[in-house]
Amino acid sequence: MSVKDKLFIFDTTLRDGEQSPGASMTRDEKVRIAKALERMRVDVIEAGFPIASPGDFEAVQAVAAAVKESTVCGLSRALDKDIDRAGEALKPAARSRIHTFIATSPIHMQMKLRMTPDEVVEQAIRAVKRARQYTDDVEFSAEDAGRSELDFLCRVIEAAIDAGATTINIPDTVGYNIPQQFGETIRQLIERVPNSDKAVFSVHCHNDLGLAVANSLAGVLNGARQIECTINGLGERAGNTALEEVVMAVRTRQDVFACDTTIDTTQIVSTSRLVSTITGFPVQPNKAIVGANAFAHESGIHQDGVLKHRETYEIMRAEDVGWTANRIVLGKHSGRNAFRTRLKELGIEFASEAELNESFEKFKVLADKKHEIFDEDIQALVSTASTVEPEYVRLVSLHVCSETGETPLARVVLLIDGHEQAAECEGGGPVDATFKCIEKLLESGANLQLYSVNNITSGTDAQGEVTVRLEKAGRIVNGQGADTDIVIASAKAYINALNRVLLPESRQHPQLGDV
Ligand code: KIV
Ligand code: ZN
Repeated sequence: MSVKDKLFIFDTTLRDGEQSPGASMTRDEKVRIAKALERMRVDVIEAGFPIASPGDFEAVQAVAAAVKESTVCGLSRALDKDIDRAGEALKPAARSRIHTFIATSPIHMQMKLRMTPDEVVEQAIRAVKRARQYTDDVEFSAEDAGRSELDFLCRVIEAAIDAGATTINIPDTVGYNIPQQFGETIRQLIERVPNSDKAVFSVHCHNDLGLAVANSLAGVLNGARQIECTINGLGERAGNTALEEVVMAVRTRQDVFACDTTIDTTQIVSTSRLVSTITGFPVQPNKAIVGANAFAHESGIHQDGVLKHRETYEIMRAEDVGWTANRIVLGKHSGRNAFRTRLKELGIEFASEAELNESFEKFKVLADKKHEIFDEDIQALVSTASTVEPEYVRLVSLHVCSETGETPLARVVLLIDGHEQAAECEGGGPVDATFKCIEKLLESGANLQLYSVNNITSGTDAQGEVTVRLEKAGRIVNGQGADTDIVIASAKAYINALNRVLLPESRQHPQLGDV
């Protein structure tokens, strides 16, 4: 058997994924996701864009301090101030990478940068050299490479490698390419750039035409050895390449690929759930690998085939990506130690004993209402535990009255900035009445853009997981809440979103900055 090349997995959930409207994450949420990515053995974690805001800087710093096994990366435009900020944020990292980028397509150079190609090459060289003052691991991206001229790309890449770049990333920034063409671009670049053997070639594809995964794999078939991707394909507009899909495609089709990743695929489902809960972006049921139906066989012929011989209809094993059948893991009588042990088995860590105690109290309340507690319940309980710091608003109590032929009524008591306040409102339904009470008390002026409810496990006593998306002054935030009572889950989700709306936040979009 021939020795396979290593295919590096560069996860950008915390940076490009966070650029999805409403997907912004707090520092602690980023650390929690970064730890899950580390457990999955992701090679590089792009933790953020440190110059974008003080919050992003702190998040990159916190991830750099928390992660020991994966390389932690910070994004920067090809500007001294960006690179210095990234270098500073990455100081605590055991292994750090600076990722610097500048656009190379005619449209971006003329219309956005207003720079000549010569100036772009000069700036790329300067940026890579400056980044090398902080770390030996420097990635250079030719933004909008998918619409750049090949001769110019060869020129700028050769210059970046000469200046010290060790990874060369080829982004299809606007998701314009198709697989055959993108694969050919990678092949030609590796063949024509004279010093291409001194760097790892990487692909970074967006999903505007639904081709991000196909384009990334075409790149790999033509010599790329790093894929940039996100959990659940989260990202700008239609998203990025989905980590779980490329990893499983390469793993499942080892007859086709001359390389493989070192990802622990059994961590995929729990990490997908964690990202979905934190960002409030639900996973569609028919999503490959991580969708609830990805391994469910409905038709009789399929079920019969799978029972007789699993491989008749299954190309992967559900357990290899971390699906376990809903297992009753804990109950009302389980103690703190059993809870702690199960959390550890699920890879969930707490920063302090106080946080563990807080979650254990919530677990006890849940176990009283719902006698069988599944892994999914524990994950939801921990993921929706107070993730917004400081919490400006808290739910104290909720009373709803819903009766056939009567107008639903809600009475809500909130703790707002330390003071209890109550309101009573009627509504079209109990959730509507509850939201009206909350809005009456807070007068946030935020617009509700999305309200969705999913059951976490099966059964009528299952917890409902609610996502609420709010918009205020162009800023979009998501909130989540989980409870066996979906009206309470809805109130929690709405309050969670409002806490984020009320959190001051200003961050710059990396591809809109004035270079
Ligand atoms: O899509 C893109 O071009 C990017 C770069 C910053 C790599 O995200
Ligand atoms: Zn991108």
